Amino acid sequence: MSNAAAKPLADDARERLIRALPKVELHLHIEGTLEPEMMFSLAGKHGVKLPYASVEAVRAAYAFHDLQSFLDLYYAGCDVLRDRKDFYALALAYFTRAHADGVVHAELFFDPQTHTVRGIPLEVVIGGFRDAMDDAHRRYGITSELILCFLRHLSEEDALATLDAALPFRGDLVGVGLDSGERGNPPAKFQRVFARARALGLRAVAHAGEEGPAAYITEALDLLGAERIDHGVRCEEDPALVERLVREQIPLTVCPLSNLKLCVVKDLKAHNFAKLLRRGVVLTINSDDPAYFGGYIADNYRATAVAQALTAAELVQVAENAARASFLPATAKTALLNKIRSAAARA
Ligand code: ADE
Ligand code: ZN
Repeated sequence: MSNAAAKPLADDARERLIRALPKVELHLHIEGTLEPEMMFSLAGKHGVKLPYASVEAVRAAYAFHDLQSFLDLYYAGCDVLRDRKDFYALALAYFTRAHADGVVHAELFFDPQTHTVRGIPLEVVIGGFRDAMDDAHRRYGITSELILCFLRHLSEEDALATLDAALPFRGDLVGVGLDSGERGNPPAKFQRVFARARALGLRAVAHAGEEGPAAYITEALDLLGAERIDHGVRCEEDPALVERLVREQIPLTVCPLSNLKLCVVKDLKAHNFAKLLRRGVVLTINSDDPAYFGGYIADNYRATAVAQALTAAELVQVAENAARASFLPATAKTALLNKIRSAAARA
């Protein structure tokens, strides 16, 4: 990285640095890594009829105008995930792809209600993920955690029942999250279930300020005890909130290519990433649902670095932010921060 840290990066230097940085992924829906090829092969395995003639037709259908237009396809795609081997294959394919991008630690979201409603036991879902997480550690040295997300378009009673059903798997979970359609489903709706999860020692995160207003971010912090905000890009609409995010060093898990695909921003140049980062907000870069949004984590780093003219020092800062914002133990964080710094110095 040397003394050029403050200058805009040349293409080759940017590529070298992005490849070299050990990355932590904190906002990744494992069901959102279902590539069309795997969708077709699992559909064939289970005799599921897909409403697409080919892999190309699936990809062509991925033209979204908002979050809901994506969620409709995302939930439909999940129907091909049926047995433990499917959940294993899905997660192992993600880890293999993430390893190629230099991911060393990942905290994966999953949506249990999408599977239990189809009669698939939690043991099958979590068991398959756990098998893949163990293999990813053995094969690639990647560490990982699972975050159980409640679907916010469903009731809090449903979320409470899901948390109860997950109690036998408490040891497999690091935390709980909140996802799905944001508009009209404020964090306030889930206060009791988050209080119960936190009493069980689970960490809390929540999607807020993706399509929903800045007030949802404040609710997620104050009413749910969220330690990180997923997306959070609409914080800018409340300057006092931005000040608070900086003061309290609350991390945002930003997903730039997702924001582009779901029309949260009209183009990546218009994104507020660099502005918030330079204001002192703890930003991280993540891929959200990479099979649907056209890029994994390194693609997100690359596209953001180019469109937002990030410097080398800023890219390193983002990688460090992700390590600090993770739920890794303190010793592992320190070791990882040292690795990031030495990788950056060598790049
Ligand atoms: N579920 C999967 N991806 C999501 C996103 N970007 N926002 C809300 N819920 C989701
Ligand atoms: Zn998300």
